[in-house]
Amino acid sequence: MTALIEVTNLTKRFGGLTALDGVSLSASAGQVLGIIGVNGAGKTTLMNCICGLYVPDSGTVSIDGHDTTGRPSHEVAQRGIGRTFQIPRVFKKMSLIDNLMVPVLSWSQSDTELMSKAETILEQFRLIDLRHNFAEELSGGQQKLLEMARMLMPDPRVVMLDEPFAGVHPDLCTFMIERISDMAEQGKAVLLISHDLTSIYRLSNHLIAMNQGQVIAQGGVQDIRSNPDVIEAYLGN
Ligand SMILES: Nc1ncnc2c1ncn2[C@@H]1O[C@H](COP(=O)(O)OP(=O)(O)OP(=O)(O)O)[C@@H](O)[C@H]1O
Ligand SMILES: [Mg+2]
Repeated sequence: MTALIEVTNLTKRFGGLTALDGVSLSASAGQVLGIIGVNGAGKTTLMNCICGLYVPDSGTVSIDGHDTTGRPSHEVAQRGIGRTFQIPRVFKKMSLIDNLMVPVLSWSQSDTELMSKAETILEQFRLIDLRHNFAEELSGGQQKLLEMARMLMPDPRVVMLDEPFAGVHPDLCTFMIERISDMAEQGKAVLLISHDLTSIYRLSNHLIAMNQGQVIAQGGVQDIRSNPDVIEAYLGN
């Protein structure tokens, strides 16, 4: 199957620190690629380089067959990628509906159509009753849901989720897992970072484990769980 996202040999340095050191990955439609690793392993830097927030020092990123390496984030987004952040970045002084309208401001569809789409997505994320509230009135967990809802508004084919379960009650975690499964079932390629190993193992078809900017292991859940390098990186030897 053709990959919707392909990353080859990505390297990113901050001064003397190599935060990403030759990372390669790929994910196809319907696949959830789990990304694990201890704090500082380079997971968020990887997403930042893919989505255009950071320019990598070397390597390539391709979204749906288009080379997007080093392109600015609005251009990368137009190629069909969406993301959420480790600490949610919602527009706090805007209503939930308006938050969802931001990524489609330049679209030619009528406001009525877009509004109706936004309401459908907010319904799916159990936020519909709050649609006219300001985003700043939401709890931390609800802000994470709002970010996911906003990410879906332009129908991205590739989605990247950075720590969606962090600080989230187990019931909401279960709800998020269902929504992420929906995304994969709809044919999106999902890149998922999480320290919640139970949830990420449940969702992922394939995983990569990172340490000090490198991919130290990859494979299915069983391969990762039993890999001595992963165990050492997490627990020490
Ligand atoms: N903008 C930046 N400037 C300088 N150093 C950075 C920058 N962003 C990340 N780093 C460094 O790169 C390394 C990787 O950071 P990154 O945020 O990617 O880790 P992470 O795997 O996402 O960790 P966590 O699980 O804690 O979120 C760290 O040593 C971090 O200090
Ligand atoms: Mg991170």
